[in-house]
Amino acid sequence: MTFDKDFFIGAATAAHQVEGNNIHSDYWAQEHMVHTDFLEPSGDAVDHYNRYAEDIRLMADAGLNAYRFSIEWARIEPEEGKFDDTEIEHYRSVIRTCKENGIEPIVTLLHFTSPKWLIAKGGWESDDTPALFARYTRYVMERLGSELRYVCTINEANMGIQVAAIAKRYEQQMRAMQAQQGTVSESTVQMGLNLEKMMANQKAAAEERMQIFGVPKAECFTSPRTPHGDEIVMEAHRAARAAIREVAPEVQVGLTLSLHDIQALPGGEENAAKEWADEFTHYLPAIEGDDFLGVQNYTRTRIDASGSLPAPADAELTQMDYEFYPQALSNVIRRVAQDFKGTLLVTENGIATADDTRREEFIKTALSGVTDCIADGIPVRGYLYWSLLDNFEWQKGYSMTFGLIAVDRTTQKRSPKPSLALLGSFLAQ
Ligand code: BGC
Repeated sequence: MTFDKDFFIGAATAAHQVEGNNIHSDYWAQEHMVHTDFLEPSGDAVDHYNRYAEDIRLMADAGLNAYRFSIEWARIEPEEGKFDDTEIEHYRSVIRTCKENGIEPIVTLLHFTSPKWLIAKGGWESDDTPALFARYTRYVMERLGSELRYVCTINEANMGIQVAAIAKRYEQQMRAMQAQQGTVSESTVQMGLNLEKMMANQKAAAEERMQIFGVPKAECFTSPRTPHGDEIVMEAHRAARAAIREVAPEVQVGLTLSLHDIQALPGGEENAAKEWADEFTHYLPAIEGDDFLGVQNYTRTRIDASGSLPAPADAELTQMDYEFYPQALSNVIRRVAQDFKGTLLVTENGIATADDTRREEFIKTALSGVTDCIADGIPVRGYLYWSLLDNFEWQKGYSMTFGLIAVDRTTQKRSPKPSLALLGSFLAQ
């Protein structure tokens, strides 16, 4: 199995997860709360901000030809309306280093983190946000647009509504447990829960957020989204796309979506159809007119009449507790291609595991699915593995190892795993 030289085989990262010291961002603020939900703060991350040249060289040495990374809004516009040109120069240098190494830079303009000031203004539920995002986009693209060919406006534009669905399910379970505790002793709940303390913590965290952001609810990009907030995200994409078309018309524009391989079990057809509509089809009007769609997939979801099911009892689980199911990627590509007729780019696909031989297996199976899709005429332009480096997996901190390259965070020493060279070997030399 080999891909033509003009197919992208590469890896992805996001600024906050790898660069370190993203001090003006909403995530940084929340990581440092007393009542934080984060296992640990991001700190220096894997110091990619200073070590990007080494990381890009490692990719090139292994034969990769594309790198997806994000530009950090909180660095470019640390205070509302005050833009920092030295940060533009930083990203210009990252882009140039990619090109010097024969690597296509694929940029994302928003990968979950926002400037702290944006959240103080109502964040991703505020009607002002699309225009603010478009202004930042324009600023970046006026300076860097001529050096880029592919730009993703927003990473996983559908994440907020997925989080809202999970939060709702969790709340229902909590309420059921609370009701149970009212009448039955705590020991009947089948886990070591301390509801009283949890509730007190939630209240204290809300008060702390109020102090930090000055608003009763911090509407970060990955906070549970309302349908109105979902509209705002789509509007932000459209506004950014219009800005890019105006200042850098040669650039191919798209967004990325988190997509599960949704499989209906008998009786689950209706639930599964609803899930796919929420996750994908209701975004079609917003992405109509995009040049490409970034497909991001990690596993499958099986659904029956009662809703989503846990992984089968005998399934192999990843560190994230996802079912090891690399076949999911080609299933998702085929399904998306039924409705979206533009180019598809796999902007994320990967596995968190300590066993690199399982990563190799995962990549091989996923890529063979991609080959079949291409043979069937689906326009897949590239495959970007998540992630180049072991990195900061949001609230889970550094415990999840998705990387093709391991990092010792005490010395920041890089150690490529065999999967890095394996990935590169699929590209015709
Ligand atoms: C996100 C990444 C994240 C990855 C693995 C995707 O949802 O875009 O930021 O690290 O999944 O969980």
